Amino acid sequence: MDVQKDLDTFNSIFSALLQDEIDNPMSKTMDGEVLFKKLDLSLNDNPLPDDEFNEALKDLVLSTPKTASRRFFNQLFGGRNSKAMLGDLLAVVLNNSMYTYKVGGPQVCVEREIIRKICSKIGYGNNSGGTFPTGGSMANLMALIMARDHFDNDFKHRGSEHTLIAYSSTESHYSIAKNASFAGIGRDNVRYIETDQNGKMKVAILEQQIKDDLSNGLSPFFVNATAGTTVLSTYDPLDKVANICEKYKLWLHVDGALGGAAMFSEQYKYLLKGIERSDSFSFNAHKMLGTPLSCSMVFAQNKKQLYESFGNDAEYLYQADNDDLNLGKMSLQCGRRNDALKLWTLWKSVGAKGLEAIVDYQFHLSKVAHQYIEKHDDYTVFSQSPSVSICFNYKDIDPKSLCSALYDHEEMMVGYGSQGGTSFIRSVAVNTNNSEADIINFFQVLEDFVARNEDWLDKRVE
Ligand SMILES: Cc1ncc(COP(=O)(O)O)c(C=O)c1O
Repeated sequence: MDVQKDLDTFNSIFSALLQDEIDNPMSKTMDGEVLFKKLDLSLNDNPLPDDEFNEALKDLVLSTPKTASRRFFNQLFGGRNSKAMLGDLLAVVLNNSMYTYKVGGPQVCVEREIIRKICSKIGYGNNSGGTFPTGGSMANLMALIMARDHFDNDFKHRGSEHTLIAYSSTESHYSIAKNASFAGIGRDNVRYIETDQNGKMKVAILEQQIKDDLSNGLSPFFVNATAGTTVLSTYDPLDKVANICEKYKLWLHVDGALGGAAMFSEQYKYLLKGIERSDSFSFNAHKMLGTPLSCSMVFAQNKKQLYESFGNDAEYLYQADNDDLNLGKMSLQCGRRNDALKLWTLWKSVGAKGLEAIVDYQFHLSKVAHQYIEKHDDYTVFSQSPSVSICFNYKDIDPKSLCSALYDHEEMMVGYGSQGGTSFIRSVAVNTNNSEADIINFFQVLEDFVARNEDWLDKRVE
């Protein structure tokens, strides 16, 4: 049977990948055009014999950047959780769509159970609900659309009658700006609120800006607070922002794509204090919890808002069961991949206590990194523990030049960011397969590389 042969091919390529991640944690880096030719990625008219096809596939897999290796610190995801991977592989095999109970069956109940559990964890009441969009950016879009329709329920029919104004910090994710354009709000109608030196939104400035906009006849309607900013992984003061939103009757959305995972930790859930007062919340399990991409959720304090903004009748689709089971009535798209199963397999296997251990361990690894930096004079630190981002500069080396050189020389994948006009390296402690030794090794690889190449690496310009 073809499928059995292909499963054997899968096993063989996956085993080769696991070994290669140890032997060559960095894939060869080369120009995209050169790699395209080297791997022969061209699509042709004639079929390939099986052995040539398998070889081409293996070459492609082994040449792909290894996000599960111990040299990958580049993004807000990394590592591999096998239980979550198992769930995702089965979702592919089952190939359901999550719009109806008729087609999704118990998978729909899996999704509902996750939504129910997380709503209760963050203190949302019995009327709350949620769904799995395709990513954190889309989760934020859904929140913005719900806020828009809550402010003006006819917006979706006749377009805008007011100039709606949204607020978000200068450190918030770029999806806020893009979504303002998609939702018909307009990019220019997002007010970026200044942050303190740690990247937290300054609430007094938020309030002043709202007052100014009101006195100019504009219509404030939405505040996005970030729980775990993309660069510094800082938490906005949710309680204080909630006070402002209540005072001016604005929708409060909490973008917890990165840092929302703190909800699972007794030790760190204080970072989310006030989240129960928000109207919506977004969260990516593919970041701190370590499921495969994508595993994003958006929650609404009142699920009626999800139906109001995303429900649509469709006789050809909704032919049985009720809205509670036909999840398509709450979602952005029609056909929808099963992104819930991978989180369910992880959660079911390790329990909420296991998820807590994952989150605590990441904060621990980050603390190990911060302690290392503080003990070594050649480093300047920009992030503050607890934070899964470790932001720093080393000696007088330009961070961009250093990150590019580490990548080009196949040493390590790490990126850079900036805050208040200063650039720095941003390493991320979200790979739970890493040990403390891997974190220390990160710095040692970097230091050894600089020692060998300091003469040509660009210097920082302040
Ligand atoms: C704070 C924050 N919000 C939203 C997103 C977007 O998530 P996604 O990449 O799943 O679209 C990110 C991604 O890094 C993020 O850091």
